[in-house]
Amino acid sequence: MKRNKIALIGGGNIGGNLAYLSCIKELGDIVLFDVVEGMPQGKAQDIMHGGAIFNSSVNVTGTNNFADIAGADVVIVTAGIPRKPGMSRDDLIATNAGIMKAVAKNIKIYAANAFVIVVSNPLDAMVTLCQKESGLAPNMVVGMAGVLDSGRYRTWLAEALNTSPASIHALVLGGHGDDMVPIRSKTTVNGIPVESLLSTDKLDAIEKRVCGAGGEIVALLKIGSAFYSPAAAAIEMAESYLKDQKKVLPCAAYLTGQYGEEGIYLGVPVKIGAGGVEKIIEIDLTAKEKEALSTSASRVRELVALLPN
Ligand code: LAC
Repeated sequence: MKRNKIALIGGGNIGGNLAYLSCIKELGDIVLFDVVEGMPQGKAQDIMHGGAIFNSSVNVTGTNNFADIAGADVVIVTAGIPRKPGMSRDDLIATNAGIMKAVAKNIKIYAANAFVIVVSNPLDAMVTLCQKESGLAPNMVVGMAGVLDSGRYRTWLAEALNTSPASIHALVLGGHGDDMVPIRSKTTVNGIPVESLLSTDKLDAIEKRVCGAGGEIVALLKIGSAFYSPAAAAIEMAESYLKDQKKVLPCAAYLTGQYGEEGIYLGVPVKIGAGGVEKIIEIDLTAKEKEALSTSASRVRELVALLPN
């Protein structure tokens, strides 16, 4: 059986963690690309040495040459600058759009058959630009946001309930901005509605914290943004594709009328399998959740309109 090939565009903190997780989980041979000379090569060696200790058999290669991503099965894009304290994700749009255009052109040349997961911020605009500039089918280009945001929601619900996050099923939909939409009505502790276990005030406070969690971490780190959990989230999506697991995950997917939205990327529940985004799943939302999702979609449209031509 041929090994999968995973191309990671961007060798920063998320890229390095993606490479290490892919190596430890033996998802495939890994190519770590960055424009900075020596850095991806150094990280690749370091990761291979760690992989050897865990008896991983896959190869990790660092490169500054886009041609080395040729034939990748999965491409995960983290390239771009992260936020500094006080910045919103949207403040990154001009710089990161230029980087994303170059990345997307190279995906088109070297990896047009790949499943592409975009992590760069501002996420909803970057995934839109990546799909447009690469020309790949919309079901093969997806944005990572909801798995991370739901992970944050699950973490704090578990803490409040003194239980394991493994027992908590939660959904955060909409754009990956501070107006993301935690879907309380569908969030359960192994089927038990969370609303029957925690007070409205407590849930309101947790959800507010979830929506600002990325910023909370940026303020604490002072340099850069979260990286362990964004990498974990993108790996769950990549694994579902590579192993045809058909997991249902909240991801930024291209909508063609679902949830009353057309022609935009928005965080919704999707099924990821060997066919990429195989299905967009429409669920019943409360009137308040529907309104919040529609507001979030309007914010995404405003953000996308700021993309340079
Ligand atoms: C965050 C960044 C990765 O939410 O968007 O932490």
